[in-house]
Amino acid sequence: MLAEKDFIATSYNTIDSASFEWSAPSNIALVKYWGKKENQIPANPSISFTLNNCKTITKLDVVKKSENSSFSFDLLFEGKPKEDFKPKIQKFFERIEKYCPFLKEYHFKIDTQNTFPHSSGIASSASGMAALAMNIMSLEKAINPAISDDYFYSKASFLARLGSGSACRSIKGEVVVWGNHVQINGSSDLFGVEFSEIHSNFKNYQDTILLVDKGEKQVSSTVGHDLMHNHPYAERRFAQAHENLSQIKTLLSSGNVEEFIKIVESEALTLHAMMMTSMPYFILMKPNTLEIINKIWKFRDETQIPVCFTLDAGANVHVLYPENVKENVLQFIQDELVGYCQNGQYICDQIGNGANQLK
Ligand code: PMV
Repeated sequence: MLAEKDFIATSYNTIDSASFEWSAPSNIALVKYWGKKENQIPANPSISFTLNNCKTITKLDVVKKSENSSFSFDLLFEGKPKEDFKPKIQKFFERIEKYCPFLKEYHFKIDTQNTFPHSSGIASSASGMAALAMNIMSLEKAINPAISDDYFYSKASFLARLGSGSACRSIKGEVVVWGNHVQINGSSDLFGVEFSEIHSNFKNYQDTILLVDKGEKQVSSTVGHDLMHNHPYAERRFAQAHENLSQIKTLLSSGNVEEFIKIVESEALTLHAMMMTSMPYFILMKPNTLEIINKIWKFRDETQIPVCFTLDAGANVHVLYPENVKENVLQFIQDELVGYCQNGQYICDQIGNGANQLK
């Protein structure tokens, strides 16, 4: 089992220059991570579906420099310099330097873009930090070819986590667990692990993301996680996440979609309940979020089609359903839900398997 100290790179060479390119997807949590301890350690374990279409693509050009007193990088977003993203990257480099002490030896050009529309209300921090972490691991592999594949991916997830917690679930695998859980072998607070005992009912599971509100997030996730400190229901919530993960693990393996739906919807509403009961308190759902949820419940009741919803820390709705009911559900979305989306916009996605090397 890899421990924190194992991720400190100690022996490596240097290279003059190199170029890497990776894509990494977004993910949607089924059991939610909300609340953290120091150093991006989650207060409870979580599990997510990896997405396929909503991705960040990042190219990293690396050139050896003569002095190594500070981090040096240019940042391009969709081909144009993006100064306001730089502090986040600077902070990320500072956090991971202990584990990648070679970073200051190089100048980086980071060229990044998303496949989903900018300001769609879809968080790009998970896919963005995962794609950057993959590129940094490619550099580490170039200067230390001896590292194993297992180490490569585990450390990529470990680094991504230091950028944005949920990013550690965007590295490898269709379903990923992050956080220690007694019933999940190899699970760790330090990085995400693939959960592979998945029944065929969940194969190609669909996620249609209804863009209810594309505005800036009202509460940053950093502020949100902090509100779980001294939250009156925090301890019970953290215990519940362990219980829900135990249950969903069994349901994913047995293919029980009906029971799966109950956990997933309860988790989404619990996440929002935590926000509504913190101090200060927030309502991140919009009236249309509730309209959509009620329509989904009515449709499911009337048709027995196993479609459900989940939510992130925002107003957009992720509609989850098995592939074999895709046609019916897309028709339902067209007929009854599109009217609640901002400019009628939604994104069709499904389970994917993680980051991919493009170069
Ligand atoms: O990774 P962060 O710090 O942006 O937190 C994400 C938290 C949720 O998306 C609300 C839940 C989750 O588990 O992804």
